[in-house]
Amino acid sequence: AQDPRLSVIRGTIREVPNFPKDGILFQDITTTLLDPVAFGHCIELLYERYRDKGVDVVAGFEARGLIFGAPLSLRLKCAFVPLRKPKKLPGETIGEAYDLEYGSDRIEMHVGHVKEGDRVLLVDDLIATGGTMVAGIKLMKKVKAEIVEAACILELPLLKGKDKLVEHDVSLYTMVE
Ligand code: PRP
Repeated sequence: AQDPRLSVIRGTIREVPNFPKDGILFQDITTTLLDPVAFGHCIELLYERYRDKGVDVVAGFEARGLIFGAPLSLRLKCAFVPLRKPKKLPGETIGEAYDLEYGSDRIEMHVGHVKEGDRVLLVDDLIATGGTMVAGIKLMKKVKAEIVEAACILELPLLKGKDKLVEHDVSLYTMVE
């Protein structure tokens, strides 16, 4: 049987039609954040899955991956590294460009904050095409980190992001569709 926490989480995600563009049904997790029980379930499910996996670094994607990744890193008692949009980080950065469901962008992190051999867990709120997550995977491989897994709260399975990750030998964990 499915963990009952998963339906609690799904029940808190609001669907907003035609945002940010016509035809897109936006999955809004700000309504999940209003509910500390549901938000707590998200963090605890991740904690339970990864507590014995030797995670050194949780890396969270701007913007919404930061919200889930940071509390998880505290729970796991490991480092947190933000993956930011261009020109946000003050130190020397290393980056990777990617295509989005709507547009294109680039993520950056501080040089030296993920080290060779670090066991990294990539966290985001949602995987759609997988473009963002693949950019994170490529970035971690550039610095010779080991990727534990990619984790998201929500998956849009029609967009086949999971298949894209398989091509890079990274498995995907998602909670709800
Ligand atoms: C959304 C979402 C993921 C990404 C998923 O972020 O939070 O990061 O898109 O899409 P993909 O699998 O097709 O790459 P967005 O790019 O809208 O940025 P934001 O969180 O900074 O608003």
